[in-house]
Amino acid sequence: MDKKLSNLKKEIECFQAYTYDDIESFRIKFLGKKQGVLTILFKELKKYPIQERKIYGKKINEIKRKIQKKINMHSFKKLIKNDNFIHFDPTIPGKSIEIGSLHPISILKNRITNLFKKIGFSYVEGPEIEDDWHNFTALNIPIDHPSRDMQDTFFLYKNPDILLRTHTSSVQIRYMKKHSPPFRVFSIGKVYRNETISSRSYFMFHQMEAFYIDKKVSFSDLKQTIHYLIISLFGISRKIRFRPSYFPFTEPSAEVDISENRNIGWLEIMGCGMIDPKVLENVEIDPDIYSGFAFGIGIERLALLIYKIDDIRIYFENDTRFLKQFKSDLL
Ligand code: DAH
Repeated sequence: MDKKLSNLKKEIECFQAYTYDDIESFRIKFLGKKQGVLTILFKELKKYPIQERKIYGKKINEIKRKIQKKINMHSFKKLIKNDNFIHFDPTIPGKSIEIGSLHPISILKNRITNLFKKIGFSYVEGPEIEDDWHNFTALNIPIDHPSRDMQDTFFLYKNPDILLRTHTSSVQIRYMKKHSPPFRVFSIGKVYRNETISSRSYFMFHQMEAFYIDKKVSFSDLKQTIHYLIISLFGISRKIRFRPSYFPFTEPSAEVDISENRNIGWLEIMGCGMIDPKVLENVEIDPDIYSGFAFGIGIERLALLIYKIDDIRIYFENDTRFLKQFKSDLL
């Protein structure tokens, strides 16, 4: 009897119904009034002495509950069968399904990605939770530099060595430590700064970082690459200018401005420069053999200019009236 019951249990557990008929024949096979397996088992029980009858009776009832459960589980199939689509009215208008659209930041990210893959750059990503060394020290940002100030950076309270990256330049360090030149790499991702939220600043935004290291990479390579990016995004009517600037991780450094549409003035859009030899040394690349350029650009800022948006906060409010406008955008 024991063996019989355990085989039965297994059979029931493995059972799967695909149609209403499957479940109906399952029910008849086990619970059928005359020939049902359980009905016969119950009859057989009478042959056993009272003690065993009690034990087996309990077990058979347990199996019965299992069968009932299986039948209930599949009863939705019965509903489908009975309903027979009688209530289906083909004249009722269908429910329209809203088609989503890409977020403007994703549109721009995809567009830049395509542009840079075309000129031989490969895409990499780095972590948003960084340590001090990758975000600051290796990039030659001294201890007393204002960007280390608690007001700009989100530090982990319990371990100030861990922070949310303030820029994507940390990806340079991560990549250069692991790979030997030559390489052309770019990354696009979120960065975080503890700034007061306003129409021009937010606690999080996206940056693109690009860097190229090889023998004899020069400032003219940098200029040409940035020119290619800006002209591809804004069209050939825009002018760009390089203004000398300072970044701890580049030497010389520059900021790039783009001419406003009607030539009223210049808008600052990015920082760039030749990677400082000290940074190369920090990642064990010999600056006497290799040189490289790097630049960093804010994606929200770029999108503000391309789409003529005047408030950075709107990107993250999930207002579908704003997002829907990009539905047909081919950018
Ligand atoms: N990391 C800088 C920032 O967030 C931007 C930047 C400037 C990146 C110059 C670069 C660079 O790679 O060369 O303000």
